[in-house]
Amino acid sequence: MAIRLGDTAPDFTAATTEGEISFHKWLGDSWGVLFSHPKDFTPVCTTELGETARLKPEFDKRKVKVIGLSVDPVDSHKKWAGDIGETQGHPLNFPLIADPDHKVSDLYDMIHPNANNTLTVRSVFIIDPSKKVRLILTYPASTGRNFQEILRVIDSMQLTDKHMVATPVNWKDGDDVIIVPSLSDEDAKKRFPGGWKPLKPYLRIVKQPGR
Ligand code: BEZ
Repeated sequence: MAIRLGDTAPDFTAATTEGEISFHKWLGDSWGVLFSHPKDFTPVCTTELGETARLKPEFDKRKVKVIGLSVDPVDSHKKWAGDIGETQGHPLNFPLIADPDHKVSDLYDMIHPNANNTLTVRSVFIIDPSKKVRLILTYPASTGRNFQEILRVIDSMQLTDKHMVATPVNWKDGDDVIIVPSLSDEDAKKRFPGGWKPLKPYLRIVKQPGR
């Protein structure tokens, strides 16, 4: 069954570069980003893993744990990790799941047989502290993902979970936001005493509340 937004992220145990993990236990009360890679020793994946290692402090700041997956075994991952540190300048600093039997890839529907029947596509699942799946992305093998976008959407979700706002097109942290349509003007006055810009009754722009 396909995983949909709002579903509980399937739990699993798996071997990783940091030992065996039990996924839900490993997540604890953090947010999580689970992302798959087609294969070890592939160029695009090498750059993505180096970039994620570089951005680890940004994920930590947001209380987000990151974990990668590739269908190769742990000893291969560990050899590849050396190349990642050497070529990207940022050694692997988060676990990489080994999934040679496709247990986790199948659970998360990361193999799309009409694209490739053995390798995973570039999937991303963002999971909140209640273990609900909050975002799903699927990219082809030939296109590296934009990890700034992953941080941006985490910022948006953490902000909109806390305040009655939504974030507009191309929003980034600090930009103005939108008051959710379900909030009446009367209630909005209590939440946003500084007022807002009413472009339409349903499009009310307000300064970003504190995160
Ligand atoms: C890569 O990560 O570079 C890659 C993997 C599979 C197909 C194409 C590129």
